[in-house]
Amino acid sequence: MSNSVRKVVIPAAGLGTRFLPATKAMPKEMLPVVDKPAIQYVVEEAVDAGLSDVLMIIGRNKNALANHFDRVTELELNLKRKGDHDHLEQVEEASDLADIHFLRQGDPLGLGHAVLRARRHIGNEPFAVMLGDDLIDARDPLLSKMIEEQGKRQATIIALMEVAPEAISLYGAAAVEPTEDPQVVRVTGLVEKPAVEDAPSNLAIIGRYVLRPEVFGILEHTKPGKGGEIQLTDALQELAADEEIAGGVYGVIFTGRRYDTGDRADYIKAIVQLAVDREDLGRELKPWLKDFVAGLAD
Ligand code: G1P
Repeated sequence: MSNSVRKVVIPAAGLGTRFLPATKAMPKEMLPVVDKPAIQYVVEEAVDAGLSDVLMIIGRNKNALANHFDRVTELELNLKRKGDHDHLEQVEEASDLADIHFLRQGDPLGLGHAVLRARRHIGNEPFAVMLGDDLIDARDPLLSKMIEEQGKRQATIIALMEVAPEAISLYGAAAVEPTEDPQVVRVTGLVEKPAVEDAPSNLAIIGRYVLRPEVFGILEHTKPGKGGEIQLTDALQELAADEEIAGGVYGVIFTGRRYDTGDRADYIKAIVQLAVDREDLGRELKPWLKDFVAGLAD
C-alpha cells in the first residue's frame, strides 16, 4: 500500500433541491461564491494540500462541472485578442489546477455509496474526501494537518468542529477522548444526525476526511441508515469501534473559518464574509454594509 495521500474524492451528485429553481438545469456546485463556483474553492483547497488527482462523483445534469474545468479555447482567444489578461488568467486557472476525473454515481444511494464508487480509481492507498457544501478558508489550512496525522497514525482521520448543541442534529456527531496533541482526539463513536438529546457531544463532522482503503470493504456491507441512505458515518463508526481493522479513527479539531454553502441563508452569509475580506471588493462593500445594517429595522 502506498503511504502518501495523492488522490481526493469529491462527491457532487446531490440534487441541490434547496436551491431550486437555480439548480434546475445547473449543479449546485456551480453556484457562484463571490465570483467563483463553489466547487473551485474545494479543488483549490485540495491542490494547496498537495492533492492533484481529483475524482468527482457526479449525477445527471452535471456537464457544467466538466466544462468548467476544461479549456474554452474560443473564450481564451477572445480575451487574448482584447488584451484582458486578468480574466484570461482566471479562466485558464480553473483548467490548469489539477487532473480532474469524473465518474457517475448511478443510483443516488447516499454519501457512503458515492465514496464506494471511487474504489477502482483509488486502489489500495489512503485518500481524501471533501464535501462541497463546506468551504474552509484558505488562510486556515486543515487538510494538510489531517494528511500529516494520517501519515503519523496510519489511521482514519476526520475533521471535527464544535457547533451549538442544538445544531448537532444536522451533522455526524463524535464521542471522543483526548490524545497527546490538543488539536487531535481519538474518536470512540460516531452517530449520523442524532437527536439533540442523544448526541454524544457537540463535535460535528465537517466535510473533510482522510480515509484508508479498508473503508471500501466496510462500505460494501454498510446497510442504509439515516434517511434510508448508505452513510459514510456508519462505516466510520465500524472503524472506530475496532482499531484492529485499520488503526481506528482520529479527529482533527478545526477552529478556523468555515463557510457552509449548503442552505440559502448560510450561502448568502458565506458570500458576504468572503467578499468583505477581498481586496478588490471589501473597500466598497464594508461601508455600504455598515449603512445597510444601521438602516435595518428590527
Ligand atoms: C454529511 C455527512 C455528515 C456531516 C456533514 C458535514 O451530511 O453525512 O456526517 O456532518 O456532511 O457537512 P450532509 O450535510 O451531506 O447531509
